[in-house]
Amino acid sequence: MNKTLVAYFSPTGSTKSVAEKIAKAAKADLFEIVPAIPYTEADLEGFEKDSRATQEARNRELRPEIKNKVENMDDYSTLFIGFPIWWFLPPTIINTFLETYNLSGKKIILFGTSDGSSISNCIEELQKSAPNANFIIQKLIKPTTSLSMIEGWVQGIK
Ligand SMILES: Cc1cc2nc3c(=O)[nH]c(=O)nc-3n(C[C@H](O)[C@H](O)[C@H](O)COP(=O)(O)O)c2cc1C
Repeated sequence: MNKTLVAYFSPTGSTKSVAEKIAKAAKADLFEIVPAIPYTEADLEGFEKDSRATQEARNRELRPEIKNKVENMDDYSTLFIGFPIWWFLPPTIINTFLETYNLSGKKIILFGTSDGSSISNCIEELQKSAPNANFIIQKLIKPTTSLSMIEGWVQGIK
């Protein structure tokens, strides 16, 4: 019940590299949120284009399906959840993830990667998908951040 899980969505690998360091620093299990339909390069195409990712970012009601599941969610009391910032917000597949489980009382720490935008609106955006969870921090982390920096951050939260 007191374990920590790092769950992340990372179609192009930047968030994954941060997630791996957080898992090491927090001695946590690692879970990749795998979309049922993988994102191709065209799906992720630039901000300006009307790509699948852009459509999903615009329509906040969409819930892209997830292929895999955390079978032992009850074992975890703390979740780090990571994603790329898409149009200043989390991809809606993160809403799908949150709505799949009963996260009541769990401590949730959000982390994200971006090309420069902040993560400032993400707690507000995601809280509605897990209203009984305890969202405590949101932090943007550069993929180049060292393991020791991340260890310091993780220790500060616990
Ligand atoms: C559809 C889409 C929208 C994006 N929107 C933003 C944004 O609003 N601000 C930003 O700084 N970066 C934006 N990015 C860039 C990603 O957040 C950034 O490259 C991220 O690190 C990718 O993470 P990943 O490799 O884990 O997928 C966007 C990328 C995509 C594909």
